[in-house]
Amino acid sequence: MDQVDQRDLRAFGANPSLPGMPDPYPVYAALREQAPAHWCDGPQMWAVLAYPEACHLLRDPALVRQPERDRLAQMYGNSDIYTKQKLDLPYMDGDSHRSMRHHVLAAYHAIDLADLTGFISSFASARLAGVADRDRFDLVAVLADDLPVYVVSHLLGVPAGELESAAAAVRPFVAARGLVQDGPIAADADDAVKAFEDFFLPLINARRAYPTGDLISRLISDPAGGLRLSDEQMLMLVSSNFYAASLFTVRLLIGTVAVALARYPDIYRALRRNRSLIPSVVEEVLRWDAPAQAVNSSIAERDVECGSVTIPAGDSVTVLVGAANRDPTQFAEPDVVRLDRRPNRHLSFAPGVHQCLGLNLARLQATLALESLADRIPAFGYDPDASVRLVADRFRGYEALVVVT
Ligand code: HEM
Repeated sequence: MDQVDQRDLRAFGANPSLPGMPDPYPVYAALREQAPAHWCDGPQMWAVLAYPEACHLLRDPALVRQPERDRLAQMYGNSDIYTKQKLDLPYMDGDSHRSMRHHVLAAYHAIDLADLTGFISSFASARLAGVADRDRFDLVAVLADDLPVYVVSHLLGVPAGELESAAAAVRPFVAARGLVQDGPIAADADDAVKAFEDFFLPLINARRAYPTGDLISRLISDPAGGLRLSDEQMLMLVSSNFYAASLFTVRLLIGTVAVALARYPDIYRALRRNRSLIPSVVEEVLRWDAPAQAVNSSIAERDVECGSVTIPAGDSVTVLVGAANRDPTQFAEPDVVRLDRRPNRHLSFAPGVHQCLGLNLARLQATLALESLADRIPAFGYDPDASVRLVADRFRGYEALVVVT
């Protein structure tokens, strides 16, 4: 543990996903050498850093989400957010979680992939065509900020021109999914839920009365049979699992892909020559610098063995997928972006009980965005001084990413 600065250890204890730290990975490496999991005093939870233990815990049904929300609801009793979150997929457990996942997946399967692909490609091409003659531009402002908003709104059937008002509520809403919580975060998230209610409930009611082919109509219509969702459940699904889940993470992934390629110009040259390499580049960047560094916390229902550590029953625990993705027992040269990682079993979509339901949608957006970039920009770097790193609990990426061509 010698090589880790005491300040970094304190930062890890305060929030193990080390929000905004330029390079958290040496800290994770040093801690992982000591033990696969560490206790963090700030959020009062265990953080798992080692790959084998992370894989195991992501699948362990003894780690449950609902009691963790009860714990937070007790701590911040004036707020509704943690009770409302219990209707939300990442915080559900057991059979009710399984049937809700099934329901959402059935609605997803009806998405018209050709239409979606065309929509994403045209959007990305139009945005990048507008800056192709500039020698520098902010990729987040030009593309990454808006692409996921327009894509998810296209799928949900949110009318064009009304998107920004709902998008503004995403950040406080997502903050209430962080590892570290406090009163102001909870209060702001209550306001965000209210804003989502004002925005989405009229739309949900309109689709109940007059269904169309969009995702909201399909979630209402219960294609798999057996689940009739209440307004509150619909609201959580739409605002959380589609809107917030997608806006934050996809935007971060696109910025990080650009940073990786600016640092590895040989890989960018290779993928411009051979576009079939793009999906593996996206996977490797997901591994290298995961947009969601940690999963939502759970409570251990019984003692849980985690390598040399026993997590006692009743304790909270999170899995740091970003740290596990750099575990050298699983990935050779874990700090290097390599095109030849096969298989690349990264944990960025949390394979297990709560595996990301939007993983293919995220991959598609990043792949098509990168194709558009490769079509228009022969080579690029980025300006670290003009770029701004995001500081947002367990999420990692850029607020502004100035690309220099
Ligand atoms: C790069 C983009 C994305 C990343 C890195 C990502 C990552 C994750 C992770 C790590 C989880 C597990 C959370 C946990 O266990 O607490 C998750 C869950 C989830 N994600 Fe994503 N996500 C991305 C994009 C999306 C998109 C585009 C959507 C939908 C439009 C989406 C919908 C969901 C849903 C519904 C869950 C909850 C699944 C469950 O609890 O059963 N995600 N995501």
